[in-house]
Amino acid sequence: MAESMKGMHRSHRCGEVTEQEIGSRVTLMGWVQKSRNKGGIIFVDLRDRSGIMQLIFENGSIDEEGFEKAGKLRSEFVIAVTGTVERRSGAVNENLKTGTMEVRVDYLRILSESETPPFPIEENSRTKEEIRLKYRYLDLRRPDIQRNLILRSRVAMLTRQFMEKEGFLEIETPMLGKSTPEGARDYLVPSRVHPGSFYALPQSPQLFKQLLMCSGYDRYIQIARCFRDEDLRADRQPEFTQIDMELAFVDVDDVIDVNERLLAYLFKEILGVEIPLPIQRMPWQEAMDRFGSDKPDLRFGMELHDVSEVVKDCEFAVFRGALEQKGGSVRGINAKGQGAMPRKKIDKLVEFARGCGAKGLAYIAIQEDGTVKSSFAKFMKEEEMTALIAAMDGQPGDLLLFAADRNKIVWNVLGALRLQLAEEMGLLDKNEFRFVWITEFPLLEWSDEENRFMAMHHPFTMPMEEDLDKIDSDPGSVRAKAYDIVLNGNEIGGGSVRIHQNDIQEKMFEVLGFTREQAWEQFSFLLTAFKYGVPPHAGLAYGLDRLVMLMAGEDSIRDVIAFPKVKDASCLMTEAPAPVDARQLEELAISVAKEED
Ligand code: AMO
Ligand code: AMP
Repeated sequence: MAESMKGMHRSHRCGEVTEQEIGSRVTLMGWVQKSRNKGGIIFVDLRDRSGIMQLIFENGSIDEEGFEKAGKLRSEFVIAVTGTVERRSGAVNENLKTGTMEVRVDYLRILSESETPPFPIEENSRTKEEIRLKYRYLDLRRPDIQRNLILRSRVAMLTRQFMEKEGFLEIETPMLGKSTPEGARDYLVPSRVHPGSFYALPQSPQLFKQLLMCSGYDRYIQIARCFRDEDLRADRQPEFTQIDMELAFVDVDDVIDVNERLLAYLFKEILGVEIPLPIQRMPWQEAMDRFGSDKPDLRFGMELHDVSEVVKDCEFAVFRGALEQKGGSVRGINAKGQGAMPRKKIDKLVEFARGCGAKGLAYIAIQEDGTVKSSFAKFMKEEEMTALIAAMDGQPGDLLLFAADRNKIVWNVLGALRLQLAEEMGLLDKNEFRFVWITEFPLLEWSDEENRFMAMHHPFTMPMEEDLDKIDSDPGSVRAKAYDIVLNGNEIGGGSVRIHQNDIQEKMFEVLGFTREQAWEQFSFLLTAFKYGVPPHAGLAYGLDRLVMLMAGEDSIRDVIAFPKVKDASCLMTEAPAPVDARQLEELAISVAKEED
């Protein structure tokens, strides 16, 4: 039986009633969290997005029909009540904002009934994520998810406010665009009008925002949906949201300046956290050498030490072999106070390192009495071990872990191991926010797969002026005017100064192995636009989902997206993607190859 709410007007949200309202009449509407029938008296917790209010139905304060109706209330019924706010007669609930109050109801309507939900609607749900995502509309009722989405809304709203004050214009760019190479895989949309032709959903508004700079809009912002057909992880969704911006007549420092102030504003307004400005900047090379990562988590130390020089003459074949390779090194980290780690646990770390591409992981466990247990001591002279331990600042009780390989692997392994250990050692505090700008990225990255250089960021990224003369002789060493903003080991945003000079752009395409024709075929609109007067410009995009995830203290961006997809890019609730009608395919002139069993 569903009643109408005709004539009733909600006066407050449940959690917004304050002690000032004691003695006043209120009308509340929401969902029944739980109800307890104690004979002549029924207690109901009423929930809406603001919180919970305890309702009390008592024979005498409500008529008999009303009391009988109250007896039928079950979890998730939607009701409207009118009553008087009172100080709680029973025990105060300190966990509730409204814990000192209750509403004595004299009028009740059941607006809609509910079947028993497949899982309880509660904070810190222990229900499996698959079930929660299948019934996401119920999951979204849970207070922790509601808090996250409210926080997300505030981040978006305050960003717009701030950027408007800074002179930015919000301009939308198309969702149906053209597929361009050099990124992740595109999501394609077939055209009915042009059979055999496809739109691509944007991986980012990159080219459009650069065109807006050509068109004189000078400061652009958009909270833009982006689509990338990539392998998903906890911090990656096939569709995600960027806070995307571009600025004309600026250089690196200008972009960094406005963004630091934006971040400080958001963290202060939303979390009450003061971010000291300016935010530290670290060149990419330093980040790799010290942390083995281009998104270093600076909440703890455990930095990498390059011990190649110290071990270069030793007999240990693993170390020597690594050093004989071009770009090979031996580096280590010191897990302070972990020297007594049991062998089994060390073996787990070795397995973990293998999972990151290492061939092995050599270790020295320094015991409290100063003796050492080591996987490779037998290959080393005593003075070599002493020198190695000294180079690692090894003290009694420390565990020293070494990777020997090509730099790329060594960084990857020790960078990941450093995080794994920090997690195990409880060094990661979610309430601490450590920002860092990573700057001076390499412009290009060698791809063994493609056997050519690829743009590390994208092909429109400006090389650093002081490196331009090396672009032919040593392209791999050219640094870019690119920057990432990193928070607690997460890349929350990235951007660059763009190339606005034709000669540099053509050189860039040449280094990337594009012919002039190929470049023009792919990017003719941009290259043509640049012939008609283009201002120097630069920009940046945040991953809004990642930023909100960290602000909310969550571990997955799924927890800050209303309707996320799972690892195989499907939606458990709508069951997208799904096959379509033969007629729809026919209209699009598409035939689907039958999968062979
Ligand atoms: P980039 O590719 O670095 O730069 O993307 C910007 C930020 O978006 C976030 N991000 C993602 N978040 C969730 N799921 C994903 N699959 C995903 N991929 C990226 C990251 C990243 O830092 N056009 C350029 C920006 C520019 O140069 O102005 C761009 O898209 O937090
Ligand atoms: P082995 O002589 O192969 O038994 O290796 C001796 C020790 O070196 C073991 O602890 C291995 O895990 C470790 N090890 C092997 N390869 C590497 C490597 N590339 N980097 C660091 N340690 C390694």
